[in-house]
Amino acid sequence: MRTVIVSGASSGIGQATAARFARSGDRVFNLDIAAPQAPAAPGTPEAPQASGTSEVRWLKADTADWAAVQAAVRQVREETGRLDVVIANAGISVRHGVLDIEEADARRITDVNLLGVLGLWQAAARIMAVEGGGVLLATASVNGRRGYPRYADYNATKAGIVALTQTFAMELAPLVRVACVSPGAVLTPMQLAEYTGEMLADTNARIPAGRHADPTEIAAAFHYLASPEARFLTGQELVVDGGETAGATTSDWGTALATAP
Ligand SMILES: NC(=O)c1ccc[n+]([C@@H]2O[C@H](COP(=O)([O-])OP(=O)(O)OC[C@H]3O[C@@H](n4cnc5c(N)ncnc54)[C@H](O)[C@@H]3O)[C@@H](O)[C@H]2O)c1
Repeated sequence: MRTVIVSGASSGIGQATAARFARSGDRVFNLDIAAPQAPAAPGTPEAPQASGTSEVRWLKADTADWAAVQAAVRQVREETGRLDVVIANAGISVRHGVLDIEEADARRITDVNLLGVLGLWQAAARIMAVEGGGVLLATASVNGRRGYPRYADYNATKAGIVALTQTFAMELAPLVRVACVSPGAVLTPMQLAEYTGEMLADTNARIPAGRHADPTEIAAAFHYLASPEARFLTGQELVVDGGETAGATTSDWGTALATAP
């Protein structure tokens, strides 16, 4: 049974990811500043199967606090005797234009989204590097790949995660594999908190798949990256975006199917 840590697993992508690993028999720990939200009702797409999130153990931690994160990672290692997969997923965003960004907001976003990944990965790597290896994963975003207005600081942290991925992979190979997932638009509380219905529809219109991702679709990507099937994959970003960053926006050009006679 593998030991898996997922940060930010009280909600959204992290919760679906923790549930995915727990369902396949891993022992999963959730490092989150907030208590887990109630899992989705059975029958909804993100609802975990029978094992549910009850098998995921919550350890309260702010991932911006490196000392707290190190203590939590050591506790998990001591309790379970191993550390196999660590997924740095916790993240926050604030919608603000570049002329209005407050210093405190930008620093907090950087502390959580970027330095939070560095701190958690470092704590895990210190164990994995001497204990035979492991897998380090993180949630970046397509926002790190090109300009998305009103999220400059957030976007920069996500681009930074790709740089961390490449460098950690170089330094830790071949013992530790490192990768990140860059989701496009995913329907989670983070997205719902900042987007109106009109904004969600507008986003759907520029995604070739025509919709937001379900968190379980991002969880599946993490599950693959952590599996032996991905053993030759390291230092890479896996983009799961329904085609959003593949080319021109479909709202401008239409898809082949939509324009076919
Ligand atoms: N939703 C999207 O469309 C989308 C797209 C691309 C990337 N992402 C990224 O996916 C990750 C998860 O986002 P989500 O949409 O599931 O958001 P969410 O708000 O549903 O969940 C985020 C979780 O992180 C936790 N968290 C926040 N700050 C923390 C901290 N300092 N320490 C510990 N836990 C903390 C929250 O309590 C929450 O449980 C984030 O890194 C986000 O940037 C989301």
